[in-house]
Amino acid sequence: MNIPQHIAIIMDGNGRWAKAQGKPRNYGHLKGTENVRNIAIKADELGVRVLTLYAFSTENWKRPDEEVGYLMSLPAVFFKKFMAELMEKGVRIETIGNLDVIPEATRKVIEDARRQTAENKGLTLVFALNYGSRAEIVRAANLAAAQCDGQITEEDIERNLYTAGYPDIDLMIRTSLDYRLSNFLLWQLSYAELYFTDVYWPDFDAEQLEKAIEWFNNRERRFGGLV
Ligand code: IPE
Ligand code: IPE
Ligand code: MG
Repeated sequence: MNIPQHIAIIMDGNGRWAKAQGKPRNYGHLKGTENVRNIAIKADELGVRVLTLYAFSTENWKRPDEEVGYLMSLPAVFFKKFMAELMEKGVRIETIGNLDVIPEATRKVIEDARRQTAENKGLTLVFALNYGSRAEIVRAANLAAAQCDGQITEEDIERNLYTAGYPDIDLMIRTSLDYRLSNFLLWQLSYAELYFTDVYWPDFDAEQLEKAIEWFNNRERRFGGLV
């Protein structure tokens, strides 16, 4: 089986999952966070190099303060519970997005995790946190303009994106059956295969990931050319 080098996932449906169980939305977020461990471990086992997970968008600040506050507390829960195992597996933690405006305590937890795992050689697990693709592209364009005298090229933009240095995204998965990108990696997904499943994120298990990769293996990628 051809294993995608870089998989990106829009982890959607925590709220709907919780509602279906008669539980509060935050319970869905907790279960969704725990599921990150399962998918990261599986991706690492399969030999995926980079797994990018959409954890919080620049638009998610519109949610009630109580929910935003809870979401911001989850990185601490995640690393407390799973850091030992992530270290054992050699998982390296990184982030994309603007961390400058997230709560100090959350930022510190993430920076610690990044530092602690910096030398690990297994899967790179990237959390997109306060991430928005339009903001990312504007930022890259501004950085590129400051660096270049003449016309800005695609490469100038590329190297100023948060994702610079990562392999191209082969497969994008969105759970919970909404067919949209919600401002996720608009530039980087140009030639990715897009997989949509009705499974809610907390239920998206290792078997579901394998199913998505099997589906990916049946795609014919042409990149605009002929086969
Ligand atoms: C995804 O689940 C998690 C975040 C966006 C933070 P949602 O909270 O969007 O769940 P639904 O879409 O309401 O079911
Ligand atoms: C996208 O999900 C963001 C994350 C999964 C973090 P949303 O639930 O915020 O997206 P919309 O509102 O359905 O487009
Ligand atoms: Mg949603």
